[in-house]
Amino acid sequence: MAVTALVGAQWGDEGKGKVIDILAEKSDMVVRAQGGNNAGHTVVAGGVTYKLHLIPSGILYKNTICVIGNGTVIDPAVVLEEMESLSSRGVDLSRLKIDARAHVIFPYHIALDGLSEDARGKADIGTTKKGIGPCYMDKAERIGIRMCDLIQPDVFAEKLKRNVSLKNNIITKLYGGEPLDCDKILADYNEYAKKLASFVCDTSVLVYNAVKQGKNVLFEGAQGALLDLDVGTYPYVTSSHPVSGGFCVGAGVGPTLIKDVLGIAKSYTTRVGKGPFPTELDDEVGNFIREQGFEYGTTTGRPRRCGWLDAVILRFAVRVNGLTGIALNKLDTLTGLKKLKICVAYEKNGQKVYDFPSDISELADCKPVYEEYDGWTEDITKAKSVKDLPKAAVAYLRAIEKLIDCPIKMVGVGPDRTQNFML
Ligand code: IMP
Repeated sequence: MAVTALVGAQWGDEGKGKVIDILAEKSDMVVRAQGGNNAGHTVVAGGVTYKLHLIPSGILYKNTICVIGNGTVIDPAVVLEEMESLSSRGVDLSRLKIDARAHVIFPYHIALDGLSEDARGKADIGTTKKGIGPCYMDKAERIGIRMCDLIQPDVFAEKLKRNVSLKNNIITKLYGGEPLDCDKILADYNEYAKKLASFVCDTSVLVYNAVKQGKNVLFEGAQGALLDLDVGTYPYVTSSHPVSGGFCVGAGVGPTLIKDVLGIAKSYTTRVGKGPFPTELDDEVGNFIREQGFEYGTTTGRPRRCGWLDAVILRFAVRVNGLTGIALNKLDTLTGLKKLKICVAYEKNGQKVYDFPSDISELADCKPVYEEYDGWTEDITKAKSVKDLPKAAVAYLRAIEKLIDCPIKMVGVGPDRTQNFML
């Protein structure tokens, strides 16, 4: 597999965790390069359930080096909780590496995430309120505190005091909120720093050397293409770059090092949070998909909005990520629906639109143009190859490949890692 990047091709929650888990087994290194604990996936290994938000699930394989790269934002309390839960179950953490340049999430980021969302009222983004956006804001403003600062007590104390004073002004004067106690944050974070210091290093060097030595390196994406800060459905996006280009900046390596880019998609579409969603189904089919597919958030528990597969979105994902293949998950969720629809284009003012609009305000005038396909009723959860699928399911897969001009390389027919096969 050499160097493979794995990205979400829709609005996140495409079942990346399972595919990552499958590929991680063959990987010498798994690298997370953007986002923070807004992401989350559950991995079941050896009958034990692990809920991971920041640490790559590759940590469950004995020899895999797991990197949290410079482009991520780290809530130390969360990462330490994950580390404790892993080590209490006998997982060796010496293979975990955290980049010195990764930015740190503080209580003021979390407070401001909530306060600014509340202040937006009906125009809120529907963030996870984990402090992700405010942390990236500090990074862009160049007042952020990085892991390398956190582990140097004097440097840290000075930067923290400056920031808490600034943020308390915003919290109290702008939002009428309660000020935060700087001494408490300092004491808590000094404790976190002691526990994390030995994991902090320059991971860009590690990743580069692994690639140069011909190791199998897997870049693990969080969220999805439509949540990308630049090319996604702005402003209803996250604050980092879930597209494949984000790996280069967020892991500190150049684009020529990445060979394959696999986009993970569900065989339908879901979205959490606010923002337009052309194929959303606010009816019994939407409810059917939500219940059959257990479409409730791992991080927030929110019910996900569900809708038909949107080929306009997948074509966008193929383009902005340079996808070399798709892993299509949850085909089994559609079992039992008599007819399936795929959105092949949008119709706007009588014209067909084939490319996802760059300005989401245009989506208000876009109606999905659907093609209809036969459904199937056979249980496909035990399918081990395409030969085990009903004809209608194969026709559905082939139609998708044609519509998006990208091969489907892997199909998921159930939550277990064995319920997956190569196409
Ligand atoms: P934030 O990343 O918490 O700032 O949230 C911004 C937007 O991204 C919101 O619509 C969230 O619901 C969405 N989001 C963030 N992380 C994920 C994820 O892992 N899966 C799906 N949506 C996400």
